[in-house]
Formats: sequence, structure tokens, C-alpha cells
Amino acid sequence: MKILIAYFSLSGNTEWLAKEIGNQIETVDCHQIELADPNPAKGNWAVFWYGFKTIFNQSMNIKSDNLDLSEYDLVLIGMPIWTDNVPPPIRAFLNKHHSELSMVSVGIFATYGGDYKKFFENVKQRLPNLTIKGTLAIPTTDGEWKNHVIGQILDFLTEVLKKNIWISSH
Ligand SMILES: Cc1cc2nc3c(=O)[nH]c(=O)nc-3n(C[C@H](O)[C@H](O)[C@H](O)COP(=O)(O)O)c2cc1C
Repeated sequence: MKILIAYFSLSGNTEWLAKEIGNQIETVDCHQIELADPNPAKGNWAVFWYGFKTIFNQSMNIKSDNLDLSEYDLVLIGMPIWTDNVPPPIRAFLNKHHSELSMVSVGIFATYGGDYKKFFENVKQRLPNLTIKGTLAIPTTDGEWKNHVIGQILDFLTEVLKKNIWISSH
């Protein structure tokens, strides 16, 4: 089975999680989605600026990639939750690869600082045509969060991999 992990991370939490998920899979390709023009602002200004863009549905350019997602059986897409929603750089990635993604199975993972419930509702609304096989949301407010995630990662992988095996064997 060919698996891709594609993630965006502004401050490193989702990147860490993406790599930790990748460490549990024998063969996996990993792609970092990067902003073409990141805002140099830090701290609250960055939260305000990126949050504003997200709330008002403003697009953000990402660096180009040569990926063909239809080559994969499973694509795991990772992101931080921004204003309960999908960050604009992930929206750009999804728009670019929309038709390929409709041919593959998808898992969504996210890190967040407050709450994740509205986020998955928003994901489903935004991506009605995707076959989402599993979801994972990890809170990053507790300084020890990295020490407690392995069980949830394994549950997530079991969910996304099991359903794929089931589909391919029927
Ligand atoms: C612009 C912005 C908006 C955010 N909005 C939310 C939110 O609505 N809900 C939430 O739980 N966390 C929110 N957060 C916190 C991030 O989701 C959290 O810190 C995440 O782990 C950051 O991941 P990263 O280090 O990969 O960028 C927001 C952070 C930023 C920068």
C-alpha cells in the first residue's frame, strides 16, 4: 500500500505529529506544505493575521509541488486548527489536488490549542467529496502532550489502514 503524509505546520506541532505518525509506518512518503509568502510576524500578531485570513476565507499561496496524489492508496493530511477551521494553505493544497483526492482514501489529523469539535464539522462541509477514513485531533496546550499521543496515533492508523485493507479484499 502506498501512503503519503502531507502536512502544514506553522509552529512545529503538526510537523512533529506528522513525523511521529510516519515513524509508525514502514514505507511512507512525507510532504511538507509550505507557504510561498509566510508572514514574518510572530506571537499574537501572527495569530491575528492568519486567523483573519482564515475567517474571511482569504487564499494564501503555497510553494508548488509535483505530487500526483492518485498514485497513492492513502493520503494522510495534517494541519493545525485555525479559527475552528482548515488553514488557507491546506485549502490551497486541497484545491490544487482536488480531482486526485477524490480517487484515494484520506485520513485527517490535526493539532489544536482549544477545541476540535466544530473543526471536523467544518472539514466535512468543506470537503464533501472526500472519503475520510479516519480522524485524529491532538491538543497541544499541555507541555507533556508529546508523551501521551502514541496510543491515539496507533488507533488512528488502525482505523485508516484497516478500512483500506477491507476495501481492497472485497
Ligand atoms: C491563526 C491561529 C488560529 C488558531 N485557532 C485555533 C482554534 O480555533 N482552535 C484551537 O483549538 N486552536 C487554535 N489555534 C492553536 C493551534 O491550532 C495549535 O497551537 C496548533 O498545535 C499549532 O500547530 P502548528 O505548531 O503545527 O502550527 C490557532 C492558532 C493560530 C496560529
